[in-house]
Amino acid sequence: MSRGNAEPRVDTSSAGQAMSRIEVAGASWNVVEAGNGPVLLLVHGFPLDHSMWEHQLGALSARFRVIAPDLGGFGASLDAGGESTMERFADALAAHLDALAVDEPIAFGGLSMGGYVAWEFCRRHAERLGKLILCDTRAAADSDDVARGRLDAAEHVLAEGSTGFVEAMIGKLFAEQTVRQRPDAVDRIRRVMLGTAAETVAAGLRGMARRTDMTAALGQVAIPTLILCGREDVISPPDEMRSIAAAMPNARFAEVPGAGHMAPLENPRFVNQAITEFLARPD
Ligand code: MLT
Repeated sequence: MSRGNAEPRVDTSSAGQAMSRIEVAGASWNVVEAGNGPVLLLVHGFPLDHSMWEHQLGALSARFRVIAPDLGGFGASLDAGGESTMERFADALAAHLDALAVDEPIAFGGLSMGGYVAWEFCRRHAERLGKLILCDTRAAADSDDVARGRLDAAEHVLAEGSTGFVEAMIGKLFAEQTVRQRPDAVDRIRRVMLGTAAETVAAGLRGMARRTDMTAALGQVAIPTLILCGREDVISPPDEMRSIAAAMPNARFAEVPGAGHMAPLENPRFVNQAITEFLARPD
């Protein structure tokens, strides 16, 4: 397989996942892949990395070529500097697909911030999209108050470190059942969040504060779309995501039981089944 700008793969893990470092536009990203078949690109939330998709990299790689990058600055990826806007991430993802020699229309799945990036990918690289999967995300931009709060939080994180921010955020990520029954999973996510550099957290907060409001454009996003939302998601609640689906011409909505904001991690069986059925459907 031609890998364009990609450097040779540097590691193949025992779980059948291959990791490569890809240099695009001055940044060096860590990209994890598993499986063969139609491409399913999975983009993580904030301030996380590819590992939140562990169950999808595992099970869905039986049918798909699952590609899960760490966005610039997150996980094991390095950033090129500058602002972490959703536009910049979307363009970088298109460049990474070039580097990976992916030229067919892909299925793009994004969770939360990954969903904000997915909207930008729709706006800027629509020709590369075959299907869209939006998990636990929003179409609306931040209100002025919320955006101001993010900018203040960015300053605070840069001055004091991200521990307080992470501890406040982690309390909102999971369903009560997940916290009770899977403390190991919660702890893994906490460690990823705490391991994200303060500069990356701040840049992400600033980038999300400036994101485009997609609400008025939803009627024009006509590609087949699956919208998944954890029943107990308090960050992007089911009613809000149901309305996103209703405003799109070709979207279906499913509420994920036993899950909060991290639905693919909290109820992977339900999410993987929904994604598999959706991607198997002829358009
Ligand atoms: C995420 O999970 O990516 C964040 O909750 C997104 C946000 O803060 O809006």
